[in-house]
Amino acid sequence: MATKILVTGGTGYIGSHTTVELQNAGYEVVIIDNLSNSNIEVLDGIEAITGKRPEFMEGDITDMNTVRELFTRFPGIKGIINFAASKAVGESVQKPLLYYRNNLVGLLNLLEAMPEFGVEGIVFSSSCTVYGEPDVNPIDETAPIKPATSPYGNTKQISEEIITDFIHSGAPIKSILLRYFNPVGAHPSSLIGELPNGVPNNLIPYLTQAAAGIRKELTVFGDDYNTPDGSCIRDFIDVVDLAKAHVTAMRRMLDKKDTDPVEIFNLGTGRGLSVLELIESFERSTGVKVPYKIGARREGDIEKIWAEPTKANTVLGWKAEVPIDDTMRNAWAWQCRLGKK
Ligand code: NAD
Ligand code: WQD
Repeated sequence: MATKILVTGGTGYIGSHTTVELQNAGYEVVIIDNLSNSNIEVLDGIEAITGKRPEFMEGDITDMNTVRELFTRFPGIKGIINFAASKAVGESVQKPLLYYRNNLVGLLNLLEAMPEFGVEGIVFSSSCTVYGEPDVNPIDETAPIKPATSPYGNTKQISEEIITDFIHSGAPIKSILLRYFNPVGAHPSSLIGELPNGVPNNLIPYLTQAAAGIRKELTVFGDDYNTPDGSCIRDFIDVVDLAKAHVTAMRRMLDKKDTDPVEIFNLGTGRGLSVLELIESFERSTGVKVPYKIGARREGDIEKIWAEPTKANTVLGWKAEVPIDDTMRNAWAWQCRLGKK
């Protein structure tokens, strides 16, 4: 019988791509999502790609009654991937309590329910934001955690601590904490992708909207950083590569008996690319010009950060594979599907 996995936030950007990869790998997926940052049509995309519609319950994981109802309605769930969270850094500064409540109470409810319903493990969506501005690059998992610069970032640090403390207390569960670098791109089928809400804050949705004529131009936030071309450097990881890492992590967590109960992996490519290099890759791979100007630095931005992914490569047995030009082509194809001006 197929192993049943709960994907919270499964109609969201990373959750939908991960559901596809889980189903392709033979897992049975149950999604819970309150549709606060996604829509129900995403299920059609998942079904069109995989030939299978995941089970879906509309609901909010910050409500314990809903969580109990979910596990009762779908018995036998063995593992959870917890994507459900609010993720806009700027908004978290304006509405800290919303972020602390949504990101932490949801996690607490899941953890509390796990032993009760016999769920063995939880994969958690963390972020490279926990490293702050690194002292050295590439950065590995042993690097110090820096004080968070936003309530959003703080929820990721606290979540990692909550999970670790719970397991150290003897809770009968395992966990893998995945620290994502910068997820970008879309499924090559263009049937699922990122659905930005309003004016995008992140680079790629803004860039593709500018290329599509929806925004006048992209502003590159600063060209006077201490980097070769002066723009910031990030580790852009293809969302399908990222999704596949969750399948590998789930398999390791549930099937290997001798692993540590809490493990941490960086999910990145190991390649730092500047904002200007990313624009070049987009233009080269799509033949479409990006209207852009150089603007002031964005407050709070990290100058440069990219992953040392060796632990994920060797211990987890996962490696990012999609070339950046393919990722840019997929991002553009998805934007074309969403629409141009
Ligand atoms: P997303 O907003 O596309 O997906 C999150 C999904 O969770 C949405 O569908 C939303 O409706 C749902 N959701 C939110 N709160 C919920 C709740 N209380 N109950 C039920 N559903 C709820 O975001 P994403 O980019 O797919 O990110 C997924 C996870 O990865 C988040 O935890 C995010 O913090 C983390 N992460 C994202 C990035 C990134 O750049 N996208 C980087 C690092 C970490
Ligand atoms: C990337 C680069 C910008 C927009 C954020 C969160 C982080 C993580 C990933 C969840 C930066 C530049 C951007 C634009 C630009 N999320 N940029 N013009 O800031 O690396 O990380 O998302 O955990 O926690 O902080 O991502 O896509 O916003 O920016 O020049 O219009 O693109 O300055 O250098 P960031 P981003």
